[in-house]
Amino acid sequence: MSEPAQAGQLPRILVAGGAGFIGTHTLVSLVQNGYRPLVLDNFSNSSPAALDRVRQITGAEVEAVRGDIRDGNALDQLFQRCADEGAPIECVLHLAALKAVGESSTKPLEYYDNNVTGTLRLLEAMLRAGVMRLVFSSSATVYGEPESLPFQERHRIAPTNPYGHTKAMVEQILRDFCAAQPRFVAVCLRYFNPIGAHESGLIGEDPRGEPNNLFPYIMRTAIGKAPFLRVFGNDYQTPDGTGVRDYLHVSDLADGHSKAIDFALAGNEGANFSAFNLGTGRGTSVLELVSAFERESGVRVPYQVTARRPGDIGEAWADPSLANQVLGWTAGRSVDQMCRDGWNWQKNNPDGYPE
Ligand code: NAD
Ligand code: WQD
Repeated sequence: MSEPAQAGQLPRILVAGGAGFIGTHTLVSLVQNGYRPLVLDNFSNSSPAALDRVRQITGAEVEAVRGDIRDGNALDQLFQRCADEGAPIECVLHLAALKAVGESSTKPLEYYDNNVTGTLRLLEAMLRAGVMRLVFSSSATVYGEPESLPFQERHRIAPTNPYGHTKAMVEQILRDFCAAQPRFVAVCLRYFNPIGAHESGLIGEDPRGEPNNLFPYIMRTAIGKAPFLRVFGNDYQTPDGTGVRDYLHVSDLADGHSKAIDFALAGNEGANFSAFNLGTGRGTSVLELVSAFERESGVRVPYQVTARRPGDIGEAWADPSLANQVLGWTAGRSVDQMCRDGWNWQKNNPDGYPE
């Protein structure tokens, strides 16, 4: 196992996929919580400009390397360089993935290659380098159709699309790897629906092309780039008939990573694989989110109700009590704040990050 950092040194964390939406917010949290992040990203769905904004917020240098998690040689060199510098990587935060549910059905091989093969290459390199701590970005999508709500970690895993399968497969790989390597610690974080942006308005979600998810589409409509929002169905068994989800502020989600790293670095002998829901435990409907957004932004969001989106479920929300108890994490920010902060980012950056 690699030597831990010397006294007085901040623990160095490799953040794979750190330039993306959740990664950038997580970098801010890591710096604020006494960690030293090093980003590895191939920028397939992000921009180096986002990292400059993180530097602006934190005042920290935030090192970054362009590279791909599927490149074992590059990973070996990176781990070695850190060790040679006397500041070895102590934990890997693995956010690097392709994440569009619809696209995963049309390009399944790309998704399995990037998300599953990529994780295998990363684990192999970690083992070679003796880096024995991993925090993995899983997803509530691993649960699929709910048998009952709220979702608890022990619910059956039954994803319904290739993207979800990649997350469930990686969780299984980590379970098996942890059983074979008792000193390896893996923490899976099952995110529900992260939205909003950092309160500074400097970083936020910057989807390429047409957004797939509700909140970025609301913002796209509010900024005038889409004529109206399509509400996918109003005949679900929910109070207003529209889909209900557990939206959480991306900055709360980011803090969940810092807590998970604290937990992973503490060792957790005897329970080296774990999975936690990260959500608020509260559901919000599509129309409730639209209303909150209109109230907080002062901008009308025209919408039209259309057919249900194939594969959608009516309702999903988390039981976050395990993360509350074990990690000491709670998602405290309100839906109103998610809307305020998201809009602050969008109106200040109508075209996203500069090229
Ligand atoms: P994102 O696309 O903004 O960030 C992912 C980052 O990983 C990007 O910067 C991309 O360039 C990078 N990347 C992708 N493949 C890579 C590779 N092979 N090598 C190196 N870098 C690579 O997505 P996000 O919303 O920030 O999501 C981060 C993680 O959280 C992903 O694993 C995603 O599946 C998971 N997740 C996201 C959500 C959500 O709603 N955003 C929900 C649940 C889980
Ligand atoms: C939310 C609600 C839609 C868009 C997806 C992935 C999941 C996770 C998060 C990564 C639903 C409705 C949406 C629109 C709408 N990502 N909607 N009009 O489907 O809960 O989860 O993102 O892991 O894996 O599946 O989020 O934001 O797409 O949809 O009415 O234009 O908004 O029907 O009820 P979802 P979403």
